Amino acid sequence: MKRHQFRQDALIEVLHAAQGLFGYLEFNLLHFVAHHLKLPLSRVYGVATFYHFFTLKPKGTHTCVVCTGTACYVKGADQLLRAVGAAAHIVPGDTTSDGELSLLTARCLGACGVAPAVVLDGAVHGHQTPSNLLLQLKGWLPRGTVGVA
Ligand code: FES
Repeated sequence: MKRHQFRQDALIEVLHAAQGLFGYLEFNLLHFVAHHLKLPLSRVYGVATFYHFFTLKPKGTHTCVVCTGTACYVKGADQLLRAVGAAAHIVPGDTTSDGELSLLTARCLGACGVAPAVVLDGAVHGHQTPSNLLLQLKGWLPRGTVGVA
């Protein structure tokens, strides 16, 4: 914030730096930023929740981002989400209780030609099916998880 002279229009840069430092944007951190930039907390919270890049919860060791954009959705993104959610016992936006896997969604990864697409720890994987996605997630899922056929 000091680098940006506490300018209110630097809010996104400040949140970006804060998430880089702390890994996620917890409520106290948003409150701190709002106070020092002299912005309403609702505005800071609104920006932090509007952009998919920002997360208000700590991420797991591994991340699985399922694209729910139009091309991926019509090719079965909802089935991918359901399969991973059921196997990991989480809903999108959550992290498994052992902290191994976070399941996230994105609106378009820019890889519509290989829909449905997912990003596993930063690497794009296209043409996904529930079964091959679960195979790729095997080591990241809670113990005792049974994959789908
Ligand atoms: S809609 Fe999924 S990559 Fe574009």
